[in-house]
Amino acid sequence: MQVMSQKKLKKMVVLGTGGTIAGKAADASDNLGYTAGQVGVAQLLAAIPSLKDLPCEVVCEQVAQLDSKDMDFAVWQALLARVGHFLAQPEVQGVVITHGTDTLEETAYFLHAVLPDALLGDKPVVLTCAMRPATSAQADGPQNVLDAFAVAMSPGARGVVAVCAGQIHSALDVQKVHPYRLDAFDSGDAGPLGRVDANRVKMEGKWPETKGGQAYPAIEDIAKVQHWPRVEIVLNHAGASGLMVQALLDQRDKQDQPGSASEGAVQGIVVAATGNGTVHQALADALLKAQAAGVKVVIATRCAYGRVLPTPHAVFPDSNGLSPVKARIALMLELLELRGAAGF
Ligand code: SIN
Repeated sequence: MQVMSQKKLKKMVVLGTGGTIAGKAADASDNLGYTAGQVGVAQLLAAIPSLKDLPCEVVCEQVAQLDSKDMDFAVWQALLARVGHFLAQPEVQGVVITHGTDTLEETAYFLHAVLPDALLGDKPVVLTCAMRPATSAQADGPQNVLDAFAVAMSPGARGVVAVCAGQIHSALDVQKVHPYRLDAFDSGDAGPLGRVDANRVKMEGKWPETKGGQAYPAIEDIAKVQHWPRVEIVLNHAGASGLMVQALLDQRDKQDQPGSASEGAVQGIVVAATGNGTVHQALADALLKAQAAGVKVVIATRCAYGRVLPTPHAVFPDSNGLSPVKARIALMLELLELRGAAGF
């Protein structure tokens, strides 16, 4: 859908996926009892009159309309296809994605991992969100959208980032850290990449020239994936046992059952470990058994800050700084790559 069509040189694309930013409550004073993913992205943009003053054409498209707790790989595939489609257009300057806050960091990481540098170029992909519904008398969505535009149109901005409450976070580091504060996101030890104050972008952190990192399957191949490798997250805690891992191994021996996000027998386990990757002995024994049975085990930390620093005695690889939920996505992509084109 086209929102503004004056002859302007550049084009900005907004892709809607739902979330609280598109949420509706019965009462304008209700910031908690609402339903996410109700208001269309065109309607959200129409409610921000100053967007028409931007020196670019703005187009929008509804890719999904959900509460992001229900995010899944099928939506990511659709989103990736549309992001790729628009980034390939020379006149497109950047892409803004409206998203729920609950899994925003996972979508951001997924896009970061799979969008090639050559396609991203200097065109930022900016995810934004809100902690209050669109119907709120004090909705935070409109300002977050304006801030996202400011970042997406800012020279020097690149890669996949998230913008919320005036802060810019990298896809690698962003994490939701609060259930209801407007300023719900944090970049941990890395700190934010910058701020947006009164529509002015102030870059602070390190914006890498290229995203680098591991090469995952090409986006055309990701679009064809029908069966995602099953990777589960297991939490280490006081009194942890090997029961969950054993259940996964038992299930592996049974016939494949269709699942919502992935199907079949477990192929990978990410451990949300304590501290610097420590795991209860009972859980570690079960994980060793799983590893011997061919399941890939990766250790991440459940700590909100910092990363697992490898030690000479580590028996499982660590997540290279990724949080458990992001390490799960990375492992799924790695397993896809191992499976190769024939497995798509
Ligand atoms: C969601 O993640 O879709 C609902 C919660 C939110 O956006 O804050």
